[in-house]
Amino acid sequence: KRPAGAPDRKLARPVTKVGIVGAGLMASQLALLFVRRLQVPVVLTDLDQARVDKGVHYVHEEIDKLLAKGRLGHDKANRFKALVSGSVDKGDVFADADFVIEAVFEEMRIKKQVFADLEAVVSPECVLATNTSSLSITEMAADLEHPERVVGFHFFNPVAVMPLLEVVRGERTDDATLATAFATGKALKKTSILVQDSPSFIVNRLLGRFMGEVGRIVDEGTPLTVADGAFAGVAPMPPFFLLSLVGPAIALHNNETLHRAFPERFYVSPNLQRLVAAGKSSVYLPDFSIDPEVAELFAPP
Ligand code: 3HC
Repeated sequence: KRPAGAPDRKLARPVTKVGIVGAGLMASQLALLFVRRLQVPVVLTDLDQARVDKGVHYVHEEIDKLLAKGRLGHDKANRFKALVSGSVDKGDVFADADFVIEAVFEEMRIKKQVFADLEAVVSPECVLATNTSSLSITEMAADLEHPERVVGFHFFNPVAVMPLLEVVRGERTDDATLATAFATGKALKKTSILVQDSPSFIVNRLLGRFMGEVGRIVDEGTPLTVADGAFAGVAPMPPFFLLSLVGPAIALHNNETLHRAFPERFYVSPNLQRLVAAGKSSVYLPDFSIDPEVAELFAPP
């Protein structure tokens, strides 16, 4: 059944080639998902060759893991690997793409620049999707010649496992773009929901309240391990594991966006700010003990 407010699927355009801007953690997970589910060429791009190579390497490694688990046969594994490529040049490689998704740093100015650069090289019908977790789709599209083909396409970590996809309609997004987004979400085997273009959409807005309160509890003096332990067996993942999974910088950005929009309701944790300023990407070490440098950063109240 068509989700409420979603346009007619018959308006959807075919997706025969996918471009991904960014080759980081989220972007490379997206590349794996798109190649597995759509089985079309997928091109990752980033600022330099080392990042691009790392992204492509991640996809190849994950395909090997699926092969080892018996989830893929040799033929498919080889075919999928051959379909994924990387490039530092967005011009040529995206010229014949039908669907380009950006997953670059969560900053409006950068994302607007990415879309402006893309518009110069892609066809007018090419969907420009953004995996932003908090920023306005309407604003991101505002300066483009074709803002009607911009849509929010927000995935959750780990992308291979989490079933939900938030599809965000900006003020100017047209029905064909939205229909293509929903058809693509279906082909990716995700459950797509249409969400309002509001700060952090639905999931991260709810999560922002929850994580903000956990942050406050720790800022007030409860040890981090106690706050996390309180959730063992209650949630699928303790809060500071989740923070480490999504990345402290993204979490902080999300809370700051929400705090700007609704200052009375959203909290920005000084401990989280310190964590990000120190460049820490995880609270835990691989053996699940607290990183001692993080323990030191988390000041007593
Ligand atoms: N990457 C890829 N696959 C992963 C993975 C990862 N990081 N972590 C787990 N998996 C896979 C495993 O390989 C396994 O697959 P298999 O069945 O094929 O072997 C499957 O997930 C289940 O894993 P496990 O049995 O080891 O572990 P759990 O049962 O504990 O499930 C989990 C892991 C699904 C990640 C679960 O802990 C969970 O749901 N955690 C909460 C995640 C969450 O809330 N994500 C949303 C974050 S918000 C966000 O992303 C928005 C952004 O904008 C900030």
